[in-house]
Amino acid sequence: MARTPLVAGNWKMSKTATEGAALARELRERLGSLDRVEVAVCPPFPALPAVGTALRGSGIALGAQDVHWEKEGAFTGAVSAGMLLDLGCRFVILGHSERRQHFGETDAAVQRKVRAALAVRLIPIVCVGETLTERDGGETLAVVARQVRAALEGLTGADLSRLVLAYEPVWAIGTGRTATPAQAQEIHGAIRRLVGQQGDGSATQILYGGSVKAENAAALLRESDIDGALVGGASLVAEQFARIVEAARPG
Ligand code: 13P
Repeated sequence: MARTPLVAGNWKMSKTATEGAALARELRERLGSLDRVEVAVCPPFPALPAVGTALRGSGIALGAQDVHWEKEGAFTGAVSAGMLLDLGCRFVILGHSERRQHFGETDAAVQRKVRAALAVRLIPIVCVGETLTERDGGETLAVVARQVRAALEGLTGADLSRLVLAYEPVWAIGTGRTATPAQAQEIHGAIRRLVGQQGDGSATQILYGGSVKAENAAALLRESDIDGALVGGASLVAEQFARIVEAARPG
């Protein structure tokens, strides 16, 4: 099944609203019209309105980096799915390893957030991946399977087609060390089979993340189950991000 590749930039805690709008304008200029590839940028919350305005009409989608599972109420510091939708977001990154590691985010929390996002038709980009200790201990598949199963629990077949997964080995994030295309493909294939146990996984986009650069993107994206990239550091430089988008566009 031909899946449209998706390249998403996770800006993490970088860029003010002013800086983000400038980066968005530069990206828009460099990317021109988008065909055969989907592109999204996920700035921090305060930059969403300015970046959204800068991207209007460009075809580049807007995404956030987290959401709360409740619709509204006494949750100081939290942001709801409805609020993100209202700002023009199409995507929301969920369960990123930095949130699991630094903010105590559990599989159960990720599951509630996935449902909250889907309920307002935001597309979750659910991140899964093992640490170096887990990989060295031979636990990669077990860890990834646990994270995927938890995120997908209770979802319908229709939900599965409105959800994106991202395999991000923790040891490859921000380290300059990527999984080899073969290592990544092995896990992507396993993830697709897990989705397939619950519905039709053939349309689900599965992104790879972890030190994706213009130089290594093409080789990763050639693998049959790698449907795009979730890019951190290189998404903050318009020229690099644009080259990754080019690498993702089918020839
Ligand atoms: P880097 O591309 O900086 O390694 O970050 C990857 C990532 O965490 C994307 O979500």
